[in-house]
Amino acid sequence: MPRGIQRQRIRTDSDFAKPIASTRQIPIRGGNAARLHLRPGNPSEAIELFCHLESVLGRPVVPMTKKRNSISPADLAVRSLRLQTRGTERRGPWSRFRGVRTTPSRNTADIGSFFDRCASTGSPEQHGDPQRLLEYRLALVRNLARIRPSDVVLDLGCGNGHHLFALAPEVARGIGIDVSPGMIALARARLRNSAWKANLTFEVGNAEDLNGIADQSIDLAICIGAFEHMLDKRAVLASIYGVLKVGGRFFCLTPDADYVWYRMIAPVLGFDTKHLSSDRILTREEFSVLLDQAGFRRSRSVPWTFIPKGDVPALVALLLTMLAVIGRHARLDSFRGGLSLCAWKGAKPTWRPKGMAS
Ligand SMILES: C[S@@+](CC[C@H](N)C(=O)[O-])C[C@H]1O[C@@H](n2cnc3c(N)ncnc32)[C@H](O)[C@@H]1O
Repeated sequence: MPRGIQRQRIRTDSDFAKPIASTRQIPIRGGNAARLHLRPGNPSEAIELFCHLESVLGRPVVPMTKKRNSISPADLAVRSLRLQTRGTERRGPWSRFRGVRTTPSRNTADIGSFFDRCASTGSPEQHGDPQRLLEYRLALVRNLARIRPSDVVLDLGCGNGHHLFALAPEVARGIGIDVSPGMIALARARLRNSAWKANLTFEVGNAEDLNGIADQSIDLAICIGAFEHMLDKRAVLASIYGVLKVGGRFFCLTPDADYVWYRMIAPVLGFDTKHLSSDRILTREEFSVLLDQAGFRRSRSVPWTFIPKGDVPALVALLLTMLAVIGRHARLDSFRGGLSLCAWKGAKPTWRPKGMAS
């Protein structure tokens, strides 16, 4: 928490929260904090409530139980969501030395529930400095997909919407869709206080059908860190193709199945690499076959330096960072972790991507 920012304390009458029964001001060091008495209720409403409070207050909200042991909004939401979602067990104290532990998932509802739990933490960046990584990803979008001021942009698996918020000043309109209502609640909470209210919208939706999006209405579809989680990749690409205008672009950032960590090191060391059992990472070749089958006749890709630091112990993260540096200098794409890819519907691009800074 940044220095000087006061934590707002919220007291709950039970593990979960809503509706608000009463509020009153309580004195705490350095100012007043609202004490809200909350009752058990719908967890997704509670997530929305916390997000809303945080966005209104402009500072973190810390729920407290009656016993005064402070717990995070995340824990609070997770406890309740666990009642609804099967598949995630409590992680042992040793788990941080074993990296990610795969959560069983069979369908899109399981995926949505998993990401609802991520949303309850505010979905912070896991893999490094948020601003630096965001700038790097945006540079890749700008370089490969060539953003235009007239673009209508569709963000598939938008999460908390941070890419669309960052792109909003450069485009005409942005639409974010995500299967996780918790993620959409985060994005909407942020939108309420944003200068881009008029040109951004966020909806719960599945990239496999894109029912709510008109055919040939999108100039640029982006999918960042989400394609690997999508179940029916053929259906996703077919629906993207359908909603893109002729000449429209599809831009994707996704891990590379040929990454040495996924292909060799993790299996040898016995590390899990999937967050969800249904995750499927593609190789560059597999991706390009699927794009071709969907009708995209032209695509380009460059390596994306993606180091899954949040998924591995610190020593492994250091090793992967060194491999990425070697990979960049020695042009070994399989040392760099990810793929940055752009495909065009119909019209051929007439330019070449510039050299990528990473
Ligand atoms: C790792 S998060 C990435 C979020 C965001 N793009 C970012 O970079 O921060 C993956 C997101 O994809 C969403 N997702 C997974 N499958 C989806 C689908 N079939 N349709 C729409 N969203 C999906 C998840 O709910 C989750 O919010």
